[in-house]
Amino acid sequence: MPLETNGNNHALSRRSFLAALMGGFSALIAVVLGAPAAGFALSPTLKSGKKEEWISLGAPNDFQVGQPKMVDFTIMRKDGWLEQSVSKSVYVIRTGDAQFTVFSPRCTHLGCIISWRSEDKSFQCPCHGGIFGLTGEVQGGPPPRPLDTLEWKIDGGKLIASYKDFLLGVPDKVEA
Ligand code: FES
Repeated sequence: MPLETNGNNHALSRRSFLAALMGGFSALIAVVLGAPAAGFALSPTLKSGKKEEWISLGAPNDFQVGQPKMVDFTIMRKDGWLEQSVSKSVYVIRTGDAQFTVFSPRCTHLGCIISWRSEDKSFQCPCHGGIFGLTGEVQGGPPPRPLDTLEWKIDGGKLIASYKDFLLGVPDKVEA
């Protein structure tokens, strides 16, 4: 009788051990497979490879009222596993003592880079003749919407802006 009991105990403990092992193994698989999925779901910025980037554009007094000025900078962009620096620029227009407008320089038609023509007091696109006024409104050509404005603020005595790209060729300003 005691031998049988021992045998049963051994069988039970072996079964318990195997069950525990399988449970642990299943949990490990769940963690290995689930962690990346959870991270993917929880982080839309990682999913798109984008993150909000505030760019320093200089001191407010670097800009004269009513005079658009292009500011160049580089940002980091992630494409899959590849992260690289990309050259970008914005147009800054000082509209008052501490008031600014910051435009994306991408024409809203197909994305060519506009340039300010002081003699015409307009932004002009070299690709298909798009013309924008000082406040970004379309004055001519095929662009379907005004120039895209970017959020800005003064931080630590510097003008900074949140750089973003927007969909091209559509009437509404939609983040790309
Ligand atoms: S890209 Fe500017 S008008 Fe076409």
